[in-house]
Amino acid sequence: MVKNTMKIFVTRIIPKSGLDLLKKYHEIEVFPHDRIPAKDEIIKGLRGKDGLLCLLSDPIDKDVINSESNLKMIASYAVGYDNIDIAAATKKGIPVSNTPGVLTDSTAEMAWALLFSVSRRIVEADKFTRDGKFIGWGPMLMLGQDVSNKTLGIIGAGRIGTAMALKSKGFNMKVLYVSGHKNNVLEKELNAEKVKLSRLLEESDFISLHVPLTDKTHHLIGEKELRMMKETAIFVNTSRGPVVDEKALVKALKENWIFGAGLDVYENEPKIAKELLKLDNVVLQPHSASATVNSRNRMAVMAAENMLAGLKGEVPPNCVNPEVFVKK
Ligand code: DGY
Repeated sequence: MVKNTMKIFVTRIIPKSGLDLLKKYHEIEVFPHDRIPAKDEIIKGLRGKDGLLCLLSDPIDKDVINSESNLKMIASYAVGYDNIDIAAATKKGIPVSNTPGVLTDSTAEMAWALLFSVSRRIVEADKFTRDGKFIGWGPMLMLGQDVSNKTLGIIGAGRIGTAMALKSKGFNMKVLYVSGHKNNVLEKELNAEKVKLSRLLEESDFISLHVPLTDKTHHLIGEKELRMMKETAIFVNTSRGPVVDEKALVKALKENWIFGAGLDVYENEPKIAKELLKLDNVVLQPHSASATVNSRNRMAVMAAENMLAGLKGEVPPNCVNPEVFVKK
């Protein structure tokens, strides 16, 4: 059998399971540094390649997409694909794929980890204890917020938002959600209520953000929305940084409009507003919600499978622009 070997540029080392699968059929070149490649480095790496396997941190704009005439497939190692100019890829007839489903639980678990870290002041208390400040049990020491029997507000009830909400079962929470469509699972399993954003913001004790970044969701949470939240509210973001106006969030945390926030993502990643770093009422993660061994392996294999299908001219199983396959 003659193998139709093609060339693939991978913008970072990803788990071996994915790289091995690609190598079985094609030649791969992996960006050799453990950092985000600059746009010109991606363009250089892409030269003469048929496939691009990229990460959510790579700027895959029209310059990159149009830079290589051989390019036939873009497989992203992420579920969110706001970093890719899908319209430009579609215009060139290039399918783009993502990795949905395999990181749902790990991302929802991170949202819960942040929710608990903020509500029980885990990171602040850990530092306090390590600094030798624990001189004995204190009736007023590290008072936080209860989670059980409270109201959880889910903004964006897709796969991850749904998983986040379902995990509230053990805490007997009332669940409110904002979504473009009725979520039957949440309504049946949790008696959850679909509400307007304003009501969710006003009534929730915990607000967790799970919408993709689009023109419509950019700065969905700004000063006005933060001011609507309860003084005891805890805000969690594991979706995308630019959905939140980071300046307004800093103000809200500094001036205690809300109790605290747990953030995995930032408006100008990897830059983080300096003031956030100084505040005790925010817990910060380095965009690592999907960072479990299992999820990252599954993402690698899924991205590779999408790439293999796309290079064969087949519809990749997780194609986000299937219209490129519609015959004109
Ligand atoms: C994604 O895949 O979009 C997540 O943000 C990864 O953590």
